[in-house]
Amino acid sequence: MSEQDKKIETFSEPTKIIQPSAEFRAKARVKSLAEYQALYTESLESPESFWKRETQDLVFRKPWTRLLDWQCPFAKWFIGAELNATESCLDRHLNTKTRDKQALIWESEPGEVTSLTYAELHAKVVEFAAALKQAGIQKGDRVAIYMGMVPEVVVGILACARIGAPHTVVFGGFAAESLRDRINDCGAKAVLTQDGSWRKGKVVPLKATVDEALRGTSTVEKVFVYNRLGAAECPIQMQAGRDVDWYDAVGAADRKLGEQPEIVDSEHPLFILYTSGSTGKPKGVMHTTAGYLAGTYLTSKYVFDLQPEDVYWCTADVGWVTGHSYIVYGPLANGATCLLYEGAPNAPDWGRFWQIIEKHKVNILYTAPTAIRAFMRQGSEWPAKSDLSSLRLLGTVGEPINPEAWLWYYREIGRNRCPVVDTWWQTETGAIMLTTLPGAHVMKPGSAGLPFFGVKPECVDSAGKAVGANEGGLLVLRKPWPSMLRTVWGDDERFRQQYWSDVPGSYFTGDGAHSDPDGYFTVVGRIDDVLNVSGHRIGTAEIESVLVAHPAVAEAAAVGRPDDLTGQALVAFVTLKAGLTPNETMERELADHVAKDIGKFARPASIRFADGLPKTRSGKIMRRLLKDIAAGRETSGDTSTLEDQGVLTKLRED
Ligand code: WTA
Repeated sequence: MSEQDKKIETFSEPTKIIQPSAEFRAKARVKSLAEYQALYTESLESPESFWKRETQDLVFRKPWTRLLDWQCPFAKWFIGAELNATESCLDRHLNTKTRDKQALIWESEPGEVTSLTYAELHAKVVEFAAALKQAGIQKGDRVAIYMGMVPEVVVGILACARIGAPHTVVFGGFAAESLRDRINDCGAKAVLTQDGSWRKGKVVPLKATVDEALRGTSTVEKVFVYNRLGAAECPIQMQAGRDVDWYDAVGAADRKLGEQPEIVDSEHPLFILYTSGSTGKPKGVMHTTAGYLAGTYLTSKYVFDLQPEDVYWCTADVGWVTGHSYIVYGPLANGATCLLYEGAPNAPDWGRFWQIIEKHKVNILYTAPTAIRAFMRQGSEWPAKSDLSSLRLLGTVGEPINPEAWLWYYREIGRNRCPVVDTWWQTETGAIMLTTLPGAHVMKPGSAGLPFFGVKPECVDSAGKAVGANEGGLLVLRKPWPSMLRTVWGDDERFRQQYWSDVPGSYFTGDGAHSDPDGYFTVVGRIDDVLNVSGHRIGTAEIESVLVAHPAVAEAAAVGRPDDLTGQALVAFVTLKAGLTPNETMERELADHVAKDIGKFARPASIRFADGLPKTRSGKIMRRLLKDIAAGRETSGDTSTLEDQGVLTKLRED
């Protein structure tokens, strides 16, 4: 982080304040600011009694004896407890009315609909857990999951949890190379995949990508393949001895093996999820069982105000943390009905989301600002064609939402009736940290809101001192919280360095923020070398290391520029090797190279060729200047340490 990035700015308060309706408030779980404040104070001052009461519906086979052991930066929560997360998500509902309630409603991109009740989902998880065990997968073994949005992915995730095998879900948009790196980093013993998936009417060949990834791995013994599309749409090759059909494996397994869940310690790893950081290698964010479950359960309950009859739809992909926490663990622990949609929001046209809401009478919609801005661009005619009167609550996550998009969402989708919760959190935090509670708080479009229970955020300067109201600073969390990441897989030192060294004793989020006199936090965006493109985190160092691996490239620097639709767009500055001349073909080739290596979502929006990159005398690339140039801004701040002033003039001229 440069000093320039840390600079203090002041912000005025958002002008618009919106109240939740009296009707919403009357039925909400938390009905007033005073009620929230009482719970929040209790969560910080008497966390033992708070968490004991609030987790009483979760299934602990052995209760905890101590809430927290905190040896900064290492935390253990719910000490002594033993549990299996799937008992809270599934088994506990089997003796209640929820048993026959739909747990999942699935709609495919071509339009098929199927659903599973809690009893049916439980049965599928038990069966598949048995298949995993039969194949020799044991407690502690890692299992990589590379699938689309189908019920089986939820089954696969929960089956891993049931046998105590940490899962690592890799988003289906990642390329073979990225999948291979993740498998190798955690030493996965099995992979769960499917032949292919539909996306905008095209087949995404997931199994073929797994085959390619596995050419460079040595730990994978078994690949379970769910036959989603069939050989006519998506022919695949099965490798004898390694690959097995998902349902053949289920058929051959002794169901009893999955019936009794593996009871694990509260701190047993539940999953690893890779995310981009400021170095070239993605970090394996590790979450453990009890704390993560408690955090996702409680936030789902209060932030989405889940009521027994609700149909809830989170549009995230299960390959990102939002899918883990708010499609799988949080809502299922609450016994909610979750909608799962396989395809793209514009397949076959921009009316698809609204038709899905009308058809399934969705009550709660949780989506991302980029999607909202894309819908906004297409015009209000699309949502106007559908009956959206079932909606009662809207949510957003993943990026800062501009007030204009917030208000469009509130007006055109919520029809001025539904509160909007703007939820700030990260892969690392596991669960929502900042938000409004929909019946308790007024909303300020563009501002995420107040801390969730147990969370103590603050905006600080680079020395770690709190800044005043409306002054910009670094967003830190002052106290540990149950769903926090426990470490970076296999790299405690990196965990310490990355999150706990900027402001000693506090967790540094990597985001810049400010808070207003009412305590509402507005998160402005990343201030480290991580970009947020359409809500996807992309490390600039990762892009750079892929670019310099191309034989034509001498040097590369990747930065973000503001983009009206995607929040940020990726711009790469490239110096070619001597003797090579830049042209459009080369530009395309380099963009393809990034897409092929990392995934299409990481394809640079533009590649700019340069004779040289601006550097300090010590040879460090001056990214701040490149950011200004990419954004078409005047260069701000001090350029006196720049080695060659001529480079700047040339770059601007291009
Ligand atoms: C950004 C996604 C502003 C932020 C759950 C954070 C947000 C990063 C918001 C984490 C929000 C997420 N307002 N910014 N409501 N939600 N962010 O790990 O920069 O994929 O650090 O987790 O997204 O992205 P991640």
